[in-house]
Amino acid sequence: MRLAGRAVGIEVRVERLTKSFGRQPVWADVTLTLPAGEISVLLGPSGTGKSVFLKTLVGLLKPDRGSVWIGERDLPRLSERELYEVRRLFGVLFQDGALFGSMNVYDNVAFPLREHTRKREPEIRAIVEEKLEMVGLRGAENKLPGQISGGMRKRAGLARALVLDPSIILFDEPDSGLDPVRTAYLNQLIVDLNQQTDATFLIVTHDINTARTVPDNIGLLYHGHLAMFGPREMLLSSTEPVVRQFLNAQRIGPIGMAEEKDATELRAEAESGAELPPLPPIPLQLQPSNGLPRRAQRAPGEWCYANGVTPPLGSFSSSRLVGANGREMT
Ligand SMILES: Nc1ncnc2c1ncn2[C@@H]1O[C@H](COP(=O)(O)OP(=O)(O)OP(=O)(O)O)[C@@H](O)[C@H]1O
Ligand SMILES: [Mg+2]
Repeated sequence: MRLAGRAVGIEVRVERLTKSFGRQPVWADVTLTLPAGEISVLLGPSGTGKSVFLKTLVGLLKPDRGSVWIGERDLPRLSERELYEVRRLFGVLFQDGALFGSMNVYDNVAFPLREHTRKREPEIRAIVEEKLEMVGLRGAENKLPGQISGGMRKRAGLARALVLDPSIILFDEPDSGLDPVRTAYLNQLIVDLNQQTDATFLIVTHDINTARTVPDNIGLLYHGHLAMFGPREMLLSSTEPVVRQFLNAQRIGPIGMAEEKDATELRAEAESGAELPPLPPIPLQLQPSNGLPRRAQRAPGEWCYANGVTPPLGSFSSSRLVGANGREMT
């Protein structure tokens, strides 16, 4: 969907989505809305089905039940031809990068443009070079995927996901395999892209710092269900055991090394009197580098105050002060 030459974010409404492989359930009854033009992050222990969720959203996997509404269209119910049309709205970075091994970086990034548009090579070249510049890969055009590092492959996948100026962007662990400095650049790139294009984002990450500072909304998949999805402040101030444990990377709580702690482990934990540390402060959101506000900017603390939740001590307090009404004080 395009308006005056720029992508416009589109709402994605997921209703009671359920997926299994044979007799192995992955998750059931997942209901959430990715608000148009906002950034959402999806968290969850390894193996809970985050990648399967992204693949189901783009229609690469068929759910057992449920809907993925994009406007009036319900993805699982579209014909192959309709699905092909709708897929053009998406830019997807898969977890493994999924580059074509026999094509150099340039041709990999140019691929969606050659496949989905009638653009001529000079125009394609301009777009590809712009995106490669954006992800810091100028100069690597002629390299094959096997000749560059894992982090570089990841960034080539990012460039490829962006060439069609997608309205819905799904990134599966864009930060895995990146060093901390590159992760910081990547997070800034995501916030800037969202500010400039108004695209709707869903990002799967294991990086707690990313989850705490980049999104407008956070979701947590756990044990076959969506444990919680909502505005970041809701999850960052939540004392729900699973949410609290995950978002604060704590060892104490219901999640164990192998997905879930058993009753004995939990009892031992309770008997040891292990106490949870207080919730850490909610950080300010990462801001666009052009100095303009984020697309879905809300005053720090707005959700907490509107819902009668006292934010953890020290929240939203870099150099700015938040008043009792949740508005920033200058
Ligand atoms: N095509 C498939 N066929 C059968 N089972 C699958 C398929 N794809 C994924 N699974 C299973 O679905 C479950 C969820 O996998 P998924 O890759 O979505 O996990 P994840 O949350 O992305 O984990 P990670 O954080 O490690 O990437 C796993 O048990 C996996 O083995
Ligand atoms: Mg995964």
